[in-house]
Amino acid sequence: MRDRRPARAVPAAAMDGSHGSAAALRATGRCLAPLIIPASCVVWVLFFFPSPSPDVAVRRDGFLPAVTLPVQRAGDTPPPPPIIDASPPPPSTSPPPPPPRRGRPARRDRCAGRYVYMHELPSRFNSDLLRDCRTLSEWTDMCRHVANGGIGPRLPPAARGGVLPATGWYDTNQFTLEVIFHARMRRYGCLTADASRAAAVYVPYYPGLDVGRYLWGFSNGVRDLLAEDLAEWLRGTPAWAAHGGRDHFLVGGRIAWDFRREDGGGEGSQWGSRLLLLPEAMNMTALVIEASPWHRRTDVAVPYPTYFHPWRPSDVSSWQRDARRARRPWLFAFAGAGRGNGDDHDRHHGGGVVRDRVIAQCARSRRCGLLRCGARGRRDDCYDPGNVMRLFKSAAFCLQPRGDSYTRRSVFDAILAGCVPVFFHPGSAYTQYRWHLPRDHAAYSVFVPEDGVRNGTVRLEDVLRRVSAARVAAMREQVIRMIPTVVYRDPRAPSARGFTDAIDVAVDGVIERVRRIKQGLPPGGDDDDDHRWDAYFDTQ
Ligand SMILES: *[C@@H]1O[C@H](CO)[C@@H](O)[C@H](O)[C@H]1NC(C)=O
Ligand SMILES: *[C@@H]1O[C@H](CO)[C@@H](O)[C@H](O)[C@H]1NC(C)=O
Repeated sequence: MRDRRPARAVPAAAMDGSHGSAAALRATGRCLAPLIIPASCVVWVLFFFPSPSPDVAVRRDGFLPAVTLPVQRAGDTPPPPPIIDASPPPPSTSPPPPPPRRGRPARRDRCAGRYVYMHELPSRFNSDLLRDCRTLSEWTDMCRHVANGGIGPRLPPAARGGVLPATGWYDTNQFTLEVIFHARMRRYGCLTADASRAAAVYVPYYPGLDVGRYLWGFSNGVRDLLAEDLAEWLRGTPAWAAHGGRDHFLVGGRIAWDFRREDGGGEGSQWGSRLLLLPEAMNMTALVIEASPWHRRTDVAVPYPTYFHPWRPSDVSSWQRDARRARRPWLFAFAGAGRGNGDDHDRHHGGGVVRDRVIAQCARSRRCGLLRCGARGRRDDCYDPGNVMRLFKSAAFCLQPRGDSYTRRSVFDAILAGCVPVFFHPGSAYTQYRWHLPRDHAAYSVFVPEDGVRNGTVRLEDVLRRVSAARVAAMREQVIRMIPTVVYRDPRAPSARGFTDAIDVAVDGVIERVRRIKQGLPPGGDDDDDHRWDAYFDTQ
């Protein structure tokens, strides 16, 4: 197969983010080796959050996320000061923690089982990339976007489109998650300088910014240089030796495909780095914005960063109120670019054709709001945060067809807007964000299998019109309750215990996963549900 990726992915990767190639993933499909995972391993624990705002408290009993830890969580009881165990205090605007008291009955260690050790990597693996931000992208000024701990500059009034509040909204690039994560981990309340006490070990390398520099027009050797350097550096550390790196995790702010170049002349042999194929990385957990369906032993998907980075719980609850009250004249909406250049294989199997059909249906319906990227003279409309959020806040359903890759940042923009997502492939969300999205997908989304859209027998307007008003309201409420756990809190905020955000969920998930790995259990836990979607990937 010819490699379409570089030519076709340029504008999409630079802006839209649906830039992987599902078609190319097909090549990997052969490798699908279903994991047989015993059920009934997980004990659900219900947590109660005496939160200052009932809106912000994510109702754990409402949607049972896939992660639960048998320890007290952030948000229990009065917020204690952060405990920084023997490591230098992170830069913080909050007062330093009080010295531990002695001579009293030992209090339970609030951080027991939750300590994280953060490798102190040489600057070439992270901060040098920020310093040399001009080299990160040919098309995008990444220096703006890596500012403020990776959330980018504050949105000026003109970009807020009259719908976004003045605080909490930023011009966030979808590829900066690794910077945001690092900034947040510096303030993690339970860091330890003693790797042997750690429940997990964080590797603050920026693999997406690294490989992003070399995706177009560089040799494979250049793309792999820093990743191989990292593997060697890690192998030399005592922290690595303890468990062969199986308690380590790293964060990649791009799709896994960009880090798993299959050499050998196939479709993917020109794309990305081999980071996740290095033996060291295969022992680690990789948090990425889109996981490979065929590499569940390493990859875990976490939400794309959106434009919203609340500082405190009240920022979230007031936005949730806005989303609840929003008038929604559109039945459904779509924002994004078409694909339109699918080859024969795409026409029958890939996501490009479905994306184009979905756009065509939206364009034809009087009840669909369409924000089309690349339409003549309006190129940037659908990248403007105010425009996107205004549209999604005025629609009941938001269409999320895959493009070149399974996932889209737009899914999280829709959730943020209280717009019920409509998925066409399970790989766009259900098999991805297991820690962050409810297991019961019907509670918060509509699933329309691609086949019917592809062969023209399904009319989306009819499908969505048939959903009762009560059902739409219930799904919307569920979506709005999911907002706190899919957003990334402002990394500059003190490590407040106000609400559980996407990073809190991810760190808890990693800790639980590492615990299972150390015990020799399957890392994914109760994945009984997995195989129901296999058919959608088998045929790829
Ligand atoms: C990966 O983990 C296994 C099991 O602990 C270990 O034997 C192996 O050496 C590790 N790989 C590397 C590259 O360290
Ligand atoms: C179209 O796809 C649907 C869903 O897979 C299927 O039930 C139906 O038979 C197909 N119709 C045609 C005309 O191919």
